[in-house]
Amino acid sequence: MLKEKVSGLLNEQVNKEFYSAYLYLDMSDYYIEKGLNGFGNWFKVQAQEEMDHAMLFIQYLQNNGEKVTLSEIKAPDVDFTGHDIPLNESLKHEQFVTESIHNIYDEAFAIKDYRTIQFLDWFVKEQGEEEKNAEDLILKYKLFGSDPKGLYMLDTELAARVYAPPTLVLD
Ligand code: FEO
Repeated sequence: MLKEKVSGLLNEQVNKEFYSAYLYLDMSDYYIEKGLNGFGNWFKVQAQEEMDHAMLFIQYLQNNGEKVTLSEIKAPDVDFTGHDIPLNESLKHEQFVTESIHNIYDEAFAIKDYRTIQFLDWFVKEQGEEEKNAEDLILKYKLFGSDPKGLYMLDTELAARVYAPPTLVLD
């Protein structure tokens, strides 16, 4: 069994990861509606990854004999007034998730919960990659997004992203 505070935070993280999936599905839908199916695909794959993250937190809780408490997932409420808004918002969101994971890490560290620390290590690395991906996308959009041909090429590039299951596997 995990200490109550850590298991509580892990449970909250389940909700945050599912909310991330919701948010990215909303972003995906924005782009698809605008005819940018490549951007739409990129965010749809991102949403699938977020659901994987949620499932990993659930599995970890279950592997440690903890009850999983599912709470209401709020609807995304970001107003997308331009193609760059979802990109900037996704970076902000990833920074928020990184902070949240670091917070659980801090709590686990404080009580010498080394098992949880080891589990979270994968997420610490993953968040580094997620923030970098979001930053790269912002930069590419800044470079090419204002030119129709550039935007078309970028959309085509993003259409090629395919879903891959997480490298972290919990038995
Ligand atoms: Fe699951 Fe994008 O953090």
